[in-house]
Parts: sequence; structure tokens; C-alpha cells
Amino acid sequence: MLGSFNLDVVTEVERFPSVGETIRAISTGFYPGGKGANQAAAASEINSRVHLFVKVGDDSFGADAEKYFSTTKTGSYTLIKDISVKTGSALVMVESLTGNNSIIIDQGANATITKAEILSDINNLKSAKVFLTQLENNIDITRFTIDIAKMCGCYVILNPAPYSENIMSHLSSVDLLTPNGTEAELISDIKISDLHSAEQAIRAIHRLGVKEIVMTLGDNGALYFNGTTMKHYSAINASVVDTSGAGDAFTGSLAAGLVEGKSMDEAIKFAVAYASLAVEKKGASSMPSANSVGIRLKKDCM
Ligand code: ATP
Ligand code: RIB
Repeated sequence: MLGSFNLDVVTEVERFPSVGETIRAISTGFYPGGKGANQAAAASEINSRVHLFVKVGDDSFGADAEKYFSTTKTGSYTLIKDISVKTGSALVMVESLTGNNSIIIDQGANATITKAEILSDINNLKSAKVFLTQLENNIDITRFTIDIAKMCGCYVILNPAPYSENIMSHLSSVDLLTPNGTEAELISDIKISDLHSAEQAIRAIHRLGVKEIVMTLGDNGALYFNGTTMKHYSAINASVVDTSGAGDAFTGSLAAGLVEGKSMDEAIKFAVAYASLAVEKKGASSMPSANSVGIRLKKDCM
């Protein structure tokens, strides 16, 4: 995996402030985050052979990153530390009643990765079956690494978050794309208001050359399309605490499920259950254990 690390400043609020307004927070906490680190954390709960390439600055957030990776389950990682840049950070607002979130990222070191740094880690790509990345790094490097991963014979999964128009030319190199509703609207240029418009959007994304797409739709579950099969998966009821990282839980567990040999259908069902557990936990990087998925799936059948 190629991805980001951010230090998340997570503020719980009763409601999002309007423009020009100052409001009081209910609480504020500091958590490890970044879509790359979160997806690696989710995947590592399921598969022990995850490898993450990540870059931080030589500052206190960078030290937090080192401490975090050395104590979590993330199988193996290459952490580049650069004294000339600052570590990525994110301001995450979570609405207490709904668990909905709003996020601003400052990419910092995540957006300064060089080709030489990627090539120094090429052996890990050469031995990988699946390559997963997002859009929180500098886009030239994301495109470069996708090309190398393809050359190495990897199945390429892209979580196009946050959306960048600079990835559009590269979508035909992607085997599996996992946009959320907002990203799917931006990629397809189709407004999504219901399942019918989501289906139109996913067909339009497929026409751009992506082989398979799983669109996540929050509490409306997920939609799959591969050019012939279209299938909707309902979300599983959850006691929502914090939805930040739901997409990361979904994509990370989906990728790990595929590596474990699950069919696409099984892997999506697993990811839907896994993400429903993730929204019950505070902090985007706090990922549920793989064991809890079986229990949730059994409960959902009853
Ligand atoms: P975020 O940016 O908040 O991390 P996202 O927008 O990338 O998330 P979503 O589509 O909101 O991703 O959620 C990903 C998956 O998580 C959904 O497909 C669904 O399976 C699950 N999920 C999200 N919200 C809920 C919820 N309220 N209840 C149950 N499952 C949920
Ligand atoms: O998807 C959630 C993540 O988005 C947060 O951890 C934040 O760092 C941003 O990258």
C-alpha cells in the first residue's frame, strides 16, 4: 500500500458551525489518522501481510506516527522521515447526534514523496498480489506507483479520496475503484440522489475504463458494478458514534478480504459488516477486530 499518515484533531460538536460562526466543542482529541494509515489498520486486522509506504516530517506528529506504527498491528511499513517538511494533519469535525463528519486535510509530508523513495521500496511491490492506494499523496507519485504496481502484476485498488481531477486520465489502469457518493458524483458528473442515479453514475464510471467499482453509500450500503453484474448491498444497522474512517474500514477490509481469497461478493458483504462495526468506534483509525464480523453477520441474518 501507498498512503498517508495524518495526525487527526477530532472535535465533537452538536452541529457544524455556519460561516462566520464560533461554536463550543463537546470534546477534542488527537488520534492517528490518514486514509492510508487507516486502511492499513483495517486490512491488518484481517491479513497479517500488509505493507504500507508512508512519509512524515521530523516533528512531534511524525514522532507520534513512529510510535503508532511500532505499536499497532500494521504488518510492516516503510516510514520515510523528512526534516524539511511537516507531518500531514487533519481537522475532523464529528456531529454528536448523527456521527456525521466533515474533514479538512493538510497533506504536508504525504504530498512530497519522490520517485526515488518509491523505488527504494520496490521489492515490496514486486511481491504483492494487491496494491491499494488513495489520493492523499502527491498525484504524480500516485500515478507513477500505480503504473509500477501494474507492471509488477498487482491487482490495483484505488480509493479516490479525496477526489482529484488529476487522476481521471489514470482510471483505466485501476482494477477496482471504491468511491463514496461524493467522489462518484465528481468522477461521473452525475448527481446521486437515490439508487437509480447511483446506478447511472456507476455505469458512467465503468465507461471511463475502470474494471470493477464498489461505490459506498453511507447508511445506504454499497453498490457494485463490473460491466455486467450490478448488485446493491444494504448497510447493516449500527449504533453510530463516529462515521469518520467508515470508508477506510470498508476499503481496507475489502482489499484484505480479496487477498484472503474471498470472492468479490463475499468480500463486499464482509466489508459492509466490518464498516458497520467501525462506525460504532470513536477515531477514524480505531478498527474493529476481524472476529467481530462473523458475530455481526450472524446477528444480521436473525
Ligand atoms: P468517511 O469519509 O466518513 O470515512 P466515506 O464517505 O468514505 O466515509 P461511506 O459511504 O460513508 O464512506 O461509508 C462506507 C461504508 O460504511 C458504507 O458503504 C457502509 O457499508 C458503512 N456505513 C457507513 N455509515 C454507516 C451507518 N450509519 N450504518 C451502518 N453502516 C454504515
Ligand atoms: O477517512 C478519514 C481520514 O481522512 C482521517 O483519518 C483524516 O486524516 C483524513 O485523511
